[in-house]
Amino acid sequence: MATTTFGRFLISNINNKNSLNKLTQNVRLYSVPTESFEFIKVSKAGQNKNVGIIQLNRPKALNALCNGLMSEVAKALDHLEADSSVGAIIITGSEKAFAAGADIKEMKDNTYSTCISGNFLEQWTRVSQTYKPIIAAVNGYALGGGCELAMMCDIIYAGDSAKFGQPEILIGTIPGAGGTQRLTRSVGKSKAMEMVLTGCQVEAVEAEKMGLVSKVFPADKLLDEAVKLGEKIASNSQITNTMAKEAVNVAYETTLREGLRFEKRMFHGTFATKDQKEGMSAFAEKRKPNFSNQ
Ligand code: CAA
Repeated sequence: MATTTFGRFLISNINNKNSLNKLTQNVRLYSVPTESFEFIKVSKAGQNKNVGIIQLNRPKALNALCNGLMSEVAKALDHLEADSSVGAIIITGSEKAFAAGADIKEMKDNTYSTCISGNFLEQWTRVSQTYKPIIAAVNGYALGGGCELAMMCDIIYAGDSAKFGQPEILIGTIPGAGGTQRLTRSVGKSKAMEMVLTGCQVEAVEAEKMGLVSKVFPADKLLDEAVKLGEKIASNSQITNTMAKEAVNVAYETTLREGLRFEKRMFHGTFATKDQKEGMSAFAEKRKPNFSNQ
């Protein structure tokens, strides 16, 4: 078994012998530094091992997002972002559940003051601060915090069994990790209100129609397709990916005028990179670009 190091974790080339097996058909997986994580598995996939995968792995609780799980996700993101070979990251779950929400049993006795003093859910924002492109590959339930976690990612691919919802209202609370804000920006007020006020679940095909999901695939092809997407993105310049991602994200946070100004400056900024010179020279010379991420 070949091994390499990944941050402080051991990575093994295990050629599809882990639990992600069931979710993939063709993608070659490398790694499993699982001994360091209790609630997630981390691996690298793709021909060039340039797509990082974080698999939520708390099957008995349908991947309910307890504090420990979310702090492991944050740690894994730190490592995958520090790994220069990784150009895109996927967060996925199991066939039954991407994640059934924040851990209700863990939080049920929280008080207002413990929420405030512990800044409850603050560590979740690490996902939305990821500067490398990040894809949610969603099979099964993506409810409450699960739906919010998917929406923190840049692109959502869904398996045909996926179900999205914000059912917090049914247990006496409201979404607390972006559900009222990101869902509304994503699908508009009427659909978001319906989901938040009734707690109804939306099937994958409907979620695609609403614009919440980018594409839907048969459940057993989902991860392969997400890895293909990750490889495609990772073949670009990482530096240009980050600039493009930042510019799109600004569209959610500012006026059109400010957004256009920001985009123009980012566009101008690409001309300070080696990768812009390489990309445009390669086009003119009719060859593939060889980006150096500089
Ligand atoms: N938190 C803690 N445990 C959960 C959980 C959650 N969010 N969702 C499921 N589980 C646990 C169940 O308690 C059960 O554990 P036990 O076997 O120990 O009883 C196990 O996972 C399996 O669940 P079910 O038996 O309920 O499975 P099911 O197939 O019958 O139903 C389901 C699946 C419809 C997803 C149902 O589990 C469910 O409704 N879960 C809760 C969904 C929810 O309300 N999510 C929102 C949470 S609040 C939130 O996320 C706030 C926020 O904005 C951050």
